[in-house]
Amino acid sequence: MTDPMNVEEFEALAAAKVPAPAWDYYRSGADDEVTLRANRAAWGQIELHYRVLVDVSDVSTQTTLFGTELSSPVVVAPTAFHRLAHPEGELATVRGAGAAGCAMTLSTLSNTPVEDVGKAANAPLWFQLYVYRDRDATAALVARAEAAGCTALVLTVDAPVLGRRERDVRNRFTLPDHLSIENMLAPGYGSMPDAPTDSGLAAYFSSLLDPSLSWRDLEWLAGITSLPILVKGVVRPDDAKRALDVGAGGVVVSNHGGRQLDGSPATASVLRAVVEGVEGRGVVLVDGGVRRGTDVLKALALGADGVMVGRPVLWGLGAAGAQGVTEVLEMLRSELERAQALCGCPRLADLSPDLLRSPW
Ligand code: FNR
Ligand code: LAC
Repeated sequence: MTDPMNVEEFEALAAAKVPAPAWDYYRSGADDEVTLRANRAAWGQIELHYRVLVDVSDVSTQTTLFGTELSSPVVVAPTAFHRLAHPEGELATVRGAGAAGCAMTLSTLSNTPVEDVGKAANAPLWFQLYVYRDRDATAALVARAEAAGCTALVLTVDAPVLGRRERDVRNRFTLPDHLSIENMLAPGYGSMPDAPTDSGLAAYFSSLLDPSLSWRDLEWLAGITSLPILVKGVVRPDDAKRALDVGAGGVVVSNHGGRQLDGSPATASVLRAVVEGVEGRGVVLVDGGVRRGTDVLKALALGADGVMVGRPVLWGLGAAGAQGVTEVLEMLRSELERAQALCGCPRLADLSPDLLRSPW
């Protein structure tokens, strides 16, 4: 293929390079993948009622999240196992994101320890937390993430059990021998169990992660860290409000990229209600199916402070390592800039819901 023109064209480039079982893991949603498709489709159902005759000779995509200025409101979502996509794994991702001026969220399930990623970061690094049954090991991980320089914690709450991705069950998805779950080597949770009839990741989740996680645990987490906590995986205003009441600094409106509960709503369709529920008391991010600058613009006009992107970053990484990650993120930023100009909104603060018409 010639140079990719847009983010989705990176998908085919990466598919040609990433081994099949890993590719299946990256692309899959749960069950019938209804939510996976709905996420993408929903952004397309929103119309942009743009304003004309606004001076857009100077357009900026700059924003501030948790007190840090960023050149783009697009944040790298936490995704597991980057060394399945590229030998340099998370180090390439963090360098690529930094070159694009974007914050990155490192998954608990990375193939590179948080300390190494922290050292390579030249833009804000956030840490995504999965809570293990072993609370001491979980608390130790939080302390390591803080010491490594992470500036926010992203607590994922939509995965008390792992969604069923049928390709992964069929492939008996597991990590190759040379890769491990580096952050959890110390307590002995660095590898996936053999699962002769299941996804190895599903078996890892059910044996080690805590399905009893509840609101009390969010209080516990807020008590052991001074970092702001973003609760990721919320689709309801009441849950978002409760998260803020219990001490979170914000929420990520997310259904895990359609990988958890199939039939959950497209994130674009519930974002406005969550923003209204939060009433400016915390940060609201959204992810799921964001593939164009116009999608980012729509999310911000609905009231989000930023968006996360998951698979597109893996596509960039798989296609061309750090450079590919930078290109994907820079494409989204420059598309956003053009969309702002065409909407008559030179600053992100100019975006408001009156620009939009949607079915919801
Ligand atoms: C994820 N996601 C995820 N989320 C999380 O909190 N911790 C994790 O380790 C992972 N791992 C992961 C792996 C892969 C391969 C994918 C595709 C996704 C979910 C991710 O953070 C995000 O919510 C979605 O990817 C957003 O949807 P898009 O941008 O992929 O459509
Ligand atoms: C996933 C987990 C790791 O979606 O969050 O595969």
